[in-house]
Amino acid sequence: MKVITTKREMDAAIAEWRHESEHIALVATMGNLHDGHISLVELAREHAERVVVTVFVNPTQFGEGEDFNEYPRTLERDKRKLKKSGADLLFSPNEETVYPFGIENATTVRVPGLSDNFCGEFRPGHFTGVTSVVARLFALVQPDVAVFGQKDFQQQLLIRYMTDDLHLPIRIITAPTVREDDGLAMSSRNAYLSDAERAIAPQLYRSLREIGNALQSGQRNYNAMESSAVDRLKTAGFDPEYVAVRRAENLEIPDRDCDEIVVLAAARLGGARLIDNIVISI
Ligand code: PAJ
Repeated sequence: MKVITTKREMDAAIAEWRHESEHIALVATMGNLHDGHISLVELAREHAERVVVTVFVNPTQFGEGEDFNEYPRTLERDKRKLKKSGADLLFSPNEETVYPFGIENATTVRVPGLSDNFCGEFRPGHFTGVTSVVARLFALVQPDVAVFGQKDFQQQLLIRYMTDDLHLPIRIITAPTVREDDGLAMSSRNAYLSDAERAIAPQLYRSLREIGNALQSGQRNYNAMESSAVDRLKTAGFDPEYVAVRRAENLEIPDRDCDEIVVLAAARLGGARLIDNIVISI
């Protein structure tokens, strides 16, 4: 696996692969790779001859007081993990490469509406930072396919919307959430949990599953399901931001014809902000 940092090296790799008529798949990450990220790389390999993994801790998606400075940067360990995963290229650009005119002068890509709800309401500006950097990574890597995790459900939906709306010739694939044995969705931010909090954390997924079971048994009282999950999370020690039962397609309130529902939740637990979701066919 090659490790590069500049646009010139990226351009050279693209030219070489295109010359061989090879396709490129992108897995964009902020590093500190875990098995969830690696599963994306493995899925990407099924869709293209070449897999590029980017590692870039994007400053523009962190709000004031968020964990940009603390975010774990573990590039050497990430390289070792990626080598085993079969990625062809690790691209870890610096800030100047991603934002050549500087962050203050950077063009932004903002998806209206969807950026401001759910996680967007609690992290103002976050999703505009995400869509803006993903648009840049798409331009730098020029992938045919890009794989994102269902773990960040709203993020993958926004990226799909942006890609369609800007006519970007990139196929977006969503990969299932990889979990610890007790159900907790893998996340770099789980490292912020104390031992006691770590023991409580799987309750978030359990709450989603309880709602999923109720939906599958025919219940449709969404508001009641949401508020009883919030209450139970509070009792367990979480500080919930939202629990929401929505249409998987667009995060709107489900109507009678809706056959795919997503149950989304975000909650703080100690120093960590945890998010999770499940998709249910009804
Ligand atoms: P990061 O949090 O590093 O996640 C990179 C990718 O891995 C995302 O597509 C995310 O959904 C996926 N992922 C994370 N945990 C996962 C899990 N447990 N199972 C499956 N997939 C998982 O998301 C970002 O970085 C950034 O916002 C980024 C898209 C790179 C833009 O900066």
